[in-house]
Amino acid sequence: MTNISIFSAKILLMAYYFENDGIEALNSYISENNPSKIFVLTDNNTRKFCLKTFENSTNIKFTSVNFKNGDNHKNLQTLTVLWEKLMRKGADRKSLIINLGGGVVTDMGGFVAATFKRGVKFIHVPTSLLGMVDAAIGGKNGINFMEVKNQIGTIMQPEFIWINTEFLKTLPQDEFISGFAEMLKHGLIADSSYWEELKDFHQNPSDVKLSELIKTSVNIKNRIVQKDPFEQDLRKLLNYGHTVGHALESYMNYQKHIKLSHGKAVAAGMIIEAYLSYKINDLTLNDLNDIKQSINVIYPVIKLSINDIKQIIDLMQFDKKNENGVIKFVLLNTIGAADFNKEVPEALLFEAFEFYLS
Ligand SMILES: NC(=O)c1ccc[n+]([C@@H]2O[C@H](COP(=O)([O-])OP(=O)(O)OC[C@H]3O[C@@H](n4cnc5c(N)ncnc54)[C@H](O)[C@@H]3O)[C@@H](O)[C@H]2O)c1
Ligand SMILES: [Zn+2]
Repeated sequence: MTNISIFSAKILLMAYYFENDGIEALNSYISENNPSKIFVLTDNNTRKFCLKTFENSTNIKFTSVNFKNGDNHKNLQTLTVLWEKLMRKGADRKSLIINLGGGVVTDMGGFVAATFKRGVKFIHVPTSLLGMVDAAIGGKNGINFMEVKNQIGTIMQPEFIWINTEFLKTLPQDEFISGFAEMLKHGLIADSSYWEELKDFHQNPSDVKLSELIKTSVNIKNRIVQKDPFEQDLRKLLNYGHTVGHALESYMNYQKHIKLSHGKAVAAGMIIEAYLSYKINDLTLNDLNDIKQSINVIYPVIKLSINDIKQIIDLMQFDKKNENGVIKFVLLNTIGAADFNKEVPEALLFEAFEFYLS
């Protein structure tokens, strides 16, 4: 019993620092904990675009460790190389690893830290929008295995997360748009006024607003994860748009060889799943049309043939959320509230795709 309560206490103690507050947090963490050595993990892009900014804003001494950017490098080979680099550079149990990068770096870095010497302390400094509002939050880490995403990993929380939106200045626009879809998702599943603010931000963007919006997204995800760290129930809500989104993403990228970002696929998924929410749950036609129009302004419709749709629906059968071969969805009740584990008849899926394409 004691162990369980200690463990959940650690889960509840997730700390976030925003903007310049992170500098002080980092400095005091280091002086209080006195790590034997500090390693900063980057990929090629974050080494090039973010490492200097990081170095200039803190006064800590660190050794940098780098790997090639891209989700296709989030694998066992890279993991082995990173463990080896840490060994050679003298990392020990009391070292600290700072993961400076997008979701690939925080996923890999979290897993490296969780496993090296049976676990060393780590801090996430996400540099992509998706990293800030999604990947760095919630303690999931890991690698792709046998070409299947996120098959091997642990759930382990960083010491804290420092979100510094300064890093977004060098993030490519397409990556920004991809991360923004997860923010829209947070509004749709949990907070209707946040959904309105996001729509407004798209019309009148500003750095100050963006920083506030990121905070709201972090709070929404954090609140959900704290209630259900191991995805027994409530955490499934974060999969809204993803049952269709994942299938569409893998179909386009691996079968059609047309590059489609995660966020763009999820954006389409959110419209399709909103239609299902209208048919099966209580989502109104008004809200459905609002969701479709607002998302389409940012994410143009992806053209799909009948055959494409058939194949995407087949792929959904493999979605990890399915139990006993039944496709389970997260469906909205209204903008700002959702249910999970909802079953959908296959025929309705075709109709939902048709609505998306209409
Ligand atoms: N652990 C989780 O809960 C969770 C949740 C969602 C996604 N993920 C994982 O996150 C990954 C996707 O994250 P992502 O979209 O951040 O991908 P990413 O880490 O590959 O970053 C996207 C691209 O932007 C570059 N980049 C990052 N920050 C930059 C900056 N400030 N300036 C210039 N370039 C920069 C990266 O090098 C990369 O080329 C996937 O592997 C996904 O499985 C994990
Ligand atoms: Zn996602």
